[in-house]
Amino acid sequence: MKITNICCIGAGYVGGPTMAIIAQKCPHINVTVVDINEKRIAAWNDDDVNNIPIYEPGLSDIVKEARGRNLFFSTKVDEAIDKAEMIFISVNTPTKTYGIGKGMAADLKFIELCARQIARVSKTDKIVVEKSTLPVRTAEALKNILENTGNGVNFQILSNPEFLAEGTAVEDLLAPDRVLIGGDIDSERGKEAVNALVEVYANWVSKEHILTTNVWSSELSKLTANAFLAQRVSSINAMSELCEKTGADVNEVAKAVGMDTRIGSKFLQSSVGFGGSCFQKDILNLVYIAKSFGLNEVADYWEQVIILNDHQKRRFASNIVKTLFNTVSGKKIAILGWAFKKDTNDTRESAAIYVSDYLLNEQAEIVVYDPKVTAEQIYADLDYLGSRSDSENRSLVKVVNSAEEACKNSHAVAILTEWDEFKELDWQTVYDNMLKPAFLFDGRRLLERATKEKIGFEFYAIGN
Ligand code: UDX
Ligand code: UDX
Repeated sequence: MKITNICCIGAGYVGGPTMAIIAQKCPHINVTVVDINEKRIAAWNDDDVNNIPIYEPGLSDIVKEARGRNLFFSTKVDEAIDKAEMIFISVNTPTKTYGIGKGMAADLKFIELCARQIARVSKTDKIVVEKSTLPVRTAEALKNILENTGNGVNFQILSNPEFLAEGTAVEDLLAPDRVLIGGDIDSERGKEAVNALVEVYANWVSKEHILTTNVWSSELSKLTANAFLAQRVSSINAMSELCEKTGADVNEVAKAVGMDTRIGSKFLQSSVGFGGSCFQKDILNLVYIAKSFGLNEVADYWEQVIILNDHQKRRFASNIVKTLFNTVSGKKIAILGWAFKKDTNDTRESAAIYVSDYLLNEQAEIVVYDPKVTAEQIYADLDYLGSRSDSENRSLVKVVNSAEEACKNSHAVAILTEWDEFKELDWQTVYDNMLKPAFLFDGRRLLERATKEKIGFEFYAIGN
């Protein structure tokens, strides 16, 4: 089976970059990315590629190269489905905010809508690829909908989870550790569908790096990978609190531990807590699945990763209040960084949101600077929490255009995202322009302790 037309539903952080790379590496395949969000599609089509809606290093050049050649962004969902032999579903699957599984289970409403739409439109056989992270056995539900509401054409469902990390999406897509493809490998048609997708990736990924499994293994592997990664962050963050009590230094501990090749050095950077659209959601999903099978010990084991992460964010914020003589009411606190990690404009589940919310509840005034996140997004994130009225958020929170401006006349600075430019700041000038005593809370271990001590900050770094 030869693929000449691909459609991807969902032009987000996963769909957009993934399809851009497929288009770049497979000039013989037409790739159309569709989305119901007209504004987002218009931004992907903006004449100036610097205005594409997702910031990822290297992405705009790739879009520039492929867009209009074999990469298209459109809101015409039916048309793109009809033309394609292979359809990726890359819509968001947020944690449910209502009903059964509220706060835990993934909301599959968008996935189901996509399935119904594909079934309605398709007049030829289609390969449907789950790209969104989904609870195990979602493929079964998809198959059910497709087969029972479709026009009698054949659908093959594949699971092809995305492992790219934001901020390094382009590198991760160009040279993935592995590509995982799950399908119905016991049937001929299933095998054919799996091979068709293998051949797409084989245009730039060597076959040893392309794993094929059954659908359930593939779905569960994605949740497991994210749970293991998040667990490492919670493990080192748990140690950071112990370090602060004992005088050990978490960076030294991480280095010593990570040099054991069995443990490895990656993902041992202590922080104010992990964020992003995946870790928390995927673990909650795992917990929900385990509970629904009555596996309470398994569920509790993984839930602890989230509990510790929430604790870390709260602990950091409450430490700011304690250090500022137990009150931040009316005090100005500069927040450096709003994105959940550097090199992305994504703020989903970012620690900055929760730390700021905590400080705002203590009546602090917040001034935020992030090099890539818009003021509109920052306010939307705070409004979404619903802790106070939208107008209160706008009067208590100011968003400015530089780190220097954010810190000027503030009582304290909190570094919440590890943007490189914060390392390069002229910290002496920042200090000189702050109210004294000036406090610096480094939630990312970005700065050298010596630098700050020389300058005169009252200094707190996570994990010492
Ligand atoms: C992805 C995955 O899909 C998610 O499961 C994974 O865990 C995180 O990454 P992401 O690309 O980051 O999601 O989501 P987002 O940036 O929100 O993009 C999803 C897009 O799908 C949005 O632009 C939304 O408008 C679009 N969408 C949603 C549709 O086009 N149709 C729908 O029915 C629902
Ligand atoms: C993650 C997975 O890495 C990726 O494979 C999956 O497809 C999606 O989820 P992402 O959330 O984009 O990717 O970024 P990641 O680099 O994993 O970082 C997640 C969070 O953990 C960030 O807030 C980051 O700052 C934090 N983190 C990461 C730490 O606090 N310490 C570390 O050592 C590593």
